[in-house]
Amino acid sequence: MPTPTPLTGYTSYKGLPPLAGLCTLEEAARPGLSVEECVRRLKRFHYCFKRLHQILTARITAEPIYELKTAFAHHAYLCAEHVTALRTRIGEMREPPLGLEDVPHPALEAYFDEIQCAPTTEDLIWSVYQRAVHYLITEIELYQRETNPLTDAPSRRVLKFTLLELNEVNDFGQGAIKNFRAPSGGSTWLNILEALYEAGDGVYDSELDVGQYIARLRQYSKTPYQYDPLPKRDERFSDPWNQGVNAESFLYDPAKPARAKALMMLYKRLREIDVPEMMASIITQTPGKPWGYYRDMTRQLWDEARHAMMGEVGFVALGVDWTKAKITFNWSYRLNTECTPMERHGVLYFIEQGLMPRTGKRYEFEVARDSGLPLMATLQDFDWADEVLHSQIGRAWYVPQFGSLKESLDYGDAAWSKVLSNWATVKERGLTQHENWWPAVYAMACAAEGVQPDAVVLAFDETYEGKRADLQRIAAE
Ligand SMILES: [Fe+2]
Ligand SMILES: [Fe+2]
Repeated sequence: MPTPTPLTGYTSYKGLPPLAGLCTLEEAARPGLSVEECVRRLKRFHYCFKRLHQILTARITAEPIYELKTAFAHHAYLCAEHVTALRTRIGEMREPPLGLEDVPHPALEAYFDEIQCAPTTEDLIWSVYQRAVHYLITEIELYQRETNPLTDAPSRRVLKFTLLELNEVNDFGQGAIKNFRAPSGGSTWLNILEALYEAGDGVYDSELDVGQYIARLRQYSKTPYQYDPLPKRDERFSDPWNQGVNAESFLYDPAKPARAKALMMLYKRLREIDVPEMMASIITQTPGKPWGYYRDMTRQLWDEARHAMMGEVGFVALGVDWTKAKITFNWSYRLNTECTPMERHGVLYFIEQGLMPRTGKRYEFEVARDSGLPLMATLQDFDWADEVLHSQIGRAWYVPQFGSLKESLDYGDAAWSKVLSNWATVKERGLTQHENWWPAVYAMACAAEGVQPDAVVLAFDETYEGKRADLQRIAAE
C-alpha cells in the first residue's frame, strides 16, 4: 500500500472527475517544464515541421512514383498545418512570434539539409520516415510526459493532434519503406543523420568545434540543394506528351451522354496530378512570403493531389484500367520550364477563375449527378467546393500583388499565351503519336458495366491539335 499523501486523500465534490478531466491530481501536482524550456522545444518542433514541409513539397515534382507524389503532398500539407498550430501556440507563451524563422541549432539545419539532398527516392524515404518523423514523434512524446498537464494544457492539446497525425505519417512511412531497399549510403549515412540530430540537441563528443564537426559530417549537402522542376512519372504513365483526346470538347458537347462524360471527367481529375507538380515549383521558388501563404498554397496543392486520386478511385470503381488513359504532364512541364513562379501562379488563378462560371465546376457536378453514378456526384461535389476555396486563396495571395483584379487576370492570361500549343512539336520530335486512347477506355467501362458501347461515343476522335488557348486553358484543370 503506498503511503497516503494529501493528494491521494483529496476527493472532488461528489466524486466528479477532477481538474476538468485534464488529468489526475497527482499528475497536475508534479512540477513540469518552464515556459522558457517549452518555447525552446516548441520552436524545435516548429523548425522540424517547416523543414519537412519544404523538403516534401520540393520533391513532389520530380518524384516519379505517383503514390509517393500524392503522399508527399499529403504529408507536406499536414506539416504545414502543424507549423501553423505551433506558431500560434508559441505566440501565446510570453513570446512575441519573433525568432520563428531562426535556426534552433546549426547541426539540426545540417541534418535537414542532408535529408533534403538525399540523392534517390530510397534515401529520401528512409531519412524522412525512418529518421526525421520517428525522432520527432519521440521528442514530442517526451514533451507530453515532461510538461505539466494543467499549466501547459494548451500545448499538450496542440501536440495531441500533432502526434495523432504524425503517427499516421509514420505508419505510411513504415509501409513504404518495405518497398525500398536501404539507402544508397547504407547505414553509414543513417548514422551520420543520427549524429547530426544529436549534435542539434547539444549532444556531441568531439574535439572539433561544432562548425567543423558539422562540416565533417555533411555528405550530400556539401553542395546546396537544387530543386528539380522537371516533372517525372512512373512507367504507368506511358505516353506523357499525349494530347490525343480533347476531354473538354467531349464534356461540353450536349449530344454526349452523361455516363460517358463522367468517364471523361475521371480522366480530367486524374490528369490533375500535374497541378501539384506545378504548384510545388511555385511554393519552392517563391521565398520570403508570410507563413500563411505557404500554408494556403500547400492546402491547395494537397487538394489537387486529392482530385487526381478521385480520378483514380473513380476509374477503379468503374472497372477501368486507368493506365490506358494517357495522363499527360505537358502542362506542368511547360509551366515549370517556361514561366516564372509568378507567371505560373497567374496561369493557375486565371484557369481557376474560368472554372467558377456555370459551365465550370457546377456543370461538372450536374453532369456527375445525371450520370446516375452516386460516387461521381460525391467526387464532383467536393471538387467544386475545393475549387471555390482555391479561388479564395488566389484572391488572398495572388490578386493583391496587382492594382486590380483585371490586371491580375490579364497577367495570368498573358503568361498562359506564352505557352503556346506544342501539339505538333512533340509529335515531330517523336515524343508522342497523340494516340486516341478513348475508345479502349470507353469500351472497358462498358464491358465492366455489361452494356454495349454507343457507336457515336466510341467513335469520338478529337485531339487538342490547333485548339484555341482558352480551350487549352480549360483543359489544364
Ligand atoms: Fe482541382
Ligand atoms: Fe484547384
